[in-house]
Amino acid sequence: MRPAILLPAFVLPAFVLIGAALLAVPARAQESETPPLVHQHWSFDGVFGTFDNAAAQRGLQVYQQVCSACHSMKQMYYRNLAGIGLNEDQIKAFAAAILVPGPADESGQPTQRPALPSDHFKSPFPNDEAARAANGGALPPDQSVLEKAREGGPDYIYALLNGYSDPPAGMKMQQGMNYNRYFPGNQIAMPQPLHGNDVTYVDGTPSSLEQEAHDVTTFLAFAANPELNERHATGVKAVLFLVFLTGITYALKRKIWADVH
Ligand code: HEC
Repeated sequence: MRPAILLPAFVLPAFVLIGAALLAVPARAQESETPPLVHQHWSFDGVFGTFDNAAAQRGLQVYQQVCSACHSMKQMYYRNLAGIGLNEDQIKAFAAAILVPGPADESGQPTQRPALPSDHFKSPFPNDEAARAANGGALPPDQSVLEKAREGGPDYIYALLNGYSDPPAGMKMQQGMNYNRYFPGNQIAMPQPLHGNDVTYVDGTPSSLEQEAHDVTTFLAFAANPELNERHATGVKAVLFLVFLTGITYALKRKIWADVH
């Protein structure tokens, strides 16, 4: 019988080792000239984490007032904003302030209409060619799932937004490129989008660069994982149920075996 008990004792450390090895691989694969990412505190971290709605709503404001000038978010609908706590009227008002292409008028001329909750987020450019042309040849990536698409996720986006500075002495910059210590290769086509005080938050929070970067990253994480809150709430319920089930099973076992001595 002993080997059966010993086996798990070996299996667990083996899993830990394999897990550690898997985690170590991306770290090594990263470009050597970018400093290691500093892990930030995110409300949505961990198995039971959830989005901080206030932060995500501030982040929406940053996206809308700054990032949406260049980045699309094609997979988002205005109605999805219910996921960060906006009610129906707030969503309607938010969408209505944005003009999207409407049907042609009687003379065939294009028109504009206020957006509806059922509309996709408005894209800043009609197509990728126009987006590149306006950005010195570089395409601002769609931000719908960007948070999931980049190594380091939210920590990377946060670091990137804070990572601009003058290039180190002697570094030759290509035309139109900006120095960023967290971007692979350190030369990025995106000019520094946030400097602090780029928005006046409706909730009165002071809009430092760090605050804006943290908030917009939270919003981008929500966009990439809109079902996270629900999934984690289900997880909590499942765990509570399992605890309950274990209790019942144990009580039952005691009762059934009560007379066996
Ligand atoms: C003036 C246009 C412009 C604005 C405004 C802008 N970006 Fe960008 N962004 C770009 C371009 C262009 C790229 C592609 C850069 C490249 O490939 O060199 C980019 C790339 C990115 C990337 C991807 C970097 C990578 O690893 O590939 C992130 C993340 C990003 N932007 C976030 C933001 C956020 C967040 C905001 C708003 C706070 C914002 N951007 C505002 C033009 C812009």
